[in-house]
Amino acid sequence: MEFFEVLRKRRSVRRFQDRPVPRELVEKLLEAAFLSPSSFNKRPWHFIVVDDGEKLKALSKAKLGASGLATAPLAIVVTADEGRSDVWVEDASIAAEHIQLAAFDLGLSSFWVQIRNRMHGEGKTAEDYVRELLGIPENYRVLCIVGVGYPAEKKPLRGDEIFEWEKVSLNRFGEPWKRS
Ligand SMILES: Cc1cc2nc3c(=O)[nH]c(=O)nc-3n(C[C@H](O)[C@H](O)[C@H](O)COP(=O)(O)O)c2cc1C
Repeated sequence: MEFFEVLRKRRSVRRFQDRPVPRELVEKLLEAAFLSPSSFNKRPWHFIVVDDGEKLKALSKAKLGASGLATAPLAIVVTADEGRSDVWVEDASIAAEHIQLAAFDLGLSSFWVQIRNRMHGEGKTAEDYVRELLGIPENYRVLCIVGVGYPAEKKPLRGDEIFEWEKVSLNRFGEPWKRS
């Protein structure tokens, strides 16, 4: 698909067909993640591929807004070694977005489940819940989970209202950008 078509047509999908993602496509998604830029090229990430149905169901209970993972055949948990990079959040975020864009290009759909700074419930962070479930070492932080699969819902294409030109300034904040 043409790059701008991917950008324009990608939507978050939270309901998936009962159909596995072929292993070669999983590896393409990981290649996309590995192609991410990172600060000082430190590449602090570690990705956990989850295709076990029981684990996916458990992940869908990590927090509110994760339930779509229960129908996903695949999740990629995006973690990073915070001791390796002080900007691991940015590095891991770019990798997660690469996965989402690559997924759409490959005919798949995806959605981002925020884990960092979210609660599982009273007294337990979503991060600790995922850490315990998947045996993630202490020095690795859990940014998000990208749920991936073949879509079972159709999302409308975004209209031109997505282009918020009023949120662009020229040379000084508040000086409007004038569209050509
Ligand atoms: C940092 C971040 C956190 C998000 N967290 C969640 C989440 O926890 N659960 C969820 O269903 N979607 C989550 N999303 C997806 C957004 O809701 C979605 O991208 C947004 O509504 C725009 O819709 P679109 O992706 O279809 O363009 C998150 C997206 C980002 C970038």
